Amino acid sequence: MIYFDNAATSWPKPEIVYEKTMEAMKDFGANPGRSGHAMSLKMDREIFNARAKVAEFFGGDNPLNLIFSKNCTDALNIAIKGAYKEKSHVITSALEHNSVLRPLVHLRDEGHIELTIVEAKEKGMLNPEDFKKAIRDNTDLCVITGMSNLIGTITPLDEIIKVLKEKDIFVIVDGAQCVGYLDIDVKKQNIDILCFPGHKSLLGPMGTGGLYINTDRVLRTVEEGGTGSFSQDLNMPKIYPDRLEGGTLNGPSIVGLGYGIDFINETGLEKIREHENAHRDKFIEGVKNIPGIELYGPLDERQGPVVTLNLEGIDSSALAYKLDQDYGIATRAGFHCAPLAHKAIGTEEKGAVRFSFSYFNTDEEIDKGIEALKNISNEVKSGNI
Ligand code: ALA
Repeated sequence: MIYFDNAATSWPKPEIVYEKTMEAMKDFGANPGRSGHAMSLKMDREIFNARAKVAEFFGGDNPLNLIFSKNCTDALNIAIKGAYKEKSHVITSALEHNSVLRPLVHLRDEGHIELTIVEAKEKGMLNPEDFKKAIRDNTDLCVITGMSNLIGTITPLDEIIKVLKEKDIFVIVDGAQCVGYLDIDVKKQNIDILCFPGHKSLLGPMGTGGLYINTDRVLRTVEEGGTGSFSQDLNMPKIYPDRLEGGTLNGPSIVGLGYGIDFINETGLEKIREHENAHRDKFIEGVKNIPGIELYGPLDERQGPVVTLNLEGIDSSALAYKLDQDYGIATRAGFHCAPLAHKAIGTEEKGAVRFSFSYFNTDEEIDKGIEALKNISNEVKSGNI
């Protein structure tokens, strides 16, 4: 199997992530923050270590403001529904994943917010000027992705946040695709809440994600339950992380995530990024002249390690199926939970095939991916498909 589906979830993980996740299950798999026995305390300590590592990785100065959730969708729901102001105006973009669009459209349709969706321009790029134009007197919140999950376009976050902060607008960043690739610093970049998955480029197991809260605005809760703290109070605690972390955490996977962060720090984010960019460039160079290939996005440094394409004469799902069945190459076809981003690049009817690379892919694998597309293009031309 050649795995080019890292934007969905990264695979493989560093060996240490497997080892430490398993070790946590076997050696100290007790419930954190509930009981006072040694094994429970050990799990609690190890989760705290992971919390501190993730918070620091994002430039956060308080590990307790790092909330763990089950994935980035969960984190976005906690952030958006916890932070929005009743009857205010919210801005988002057409490049968003449904994990942003669906909560916002739900709030709009229930009459809680007004919503503006800023269009993506040519090649799926967002323009800070369009955000400026979208601001109204009652605009309170902007929810924006750091990188498109469909075509990997990198959002000019700093420029957009500058425009928003001139009007004191609250900013939630969907870091699903950009964390573990771009340098993100919530303090320097003035991000009020950063939402992230643990299982993509942070290299942790599935079932992990979270948000870093860099604001004094108190988030309302979207879920209530046991926290192991203030148990005689029938309301959720006011303190973080307990306020937003009802129920037993995915302890072993969170411990594993902490070691994913260690791996990134030890390897160096810049080195990882350069490696992934080299895969992106080699792949684009190798496929761009294949007859019938249509590539999307800017195809340069404004795009992360994601390349999305179609091959004339074959449906995107059929192409992904053939890559899998005949070549053992894993990609993602269809609509990528990003219907408006597909509209922006003109693929809302036919979908597209996404190749997403990681640090662990090799040059040889990229060559095999290019070769497979050449062969399939020849088959299409010769009428064999
Ligand atoms: N959000 C993930 C993707 O883009 C699952 O594939």
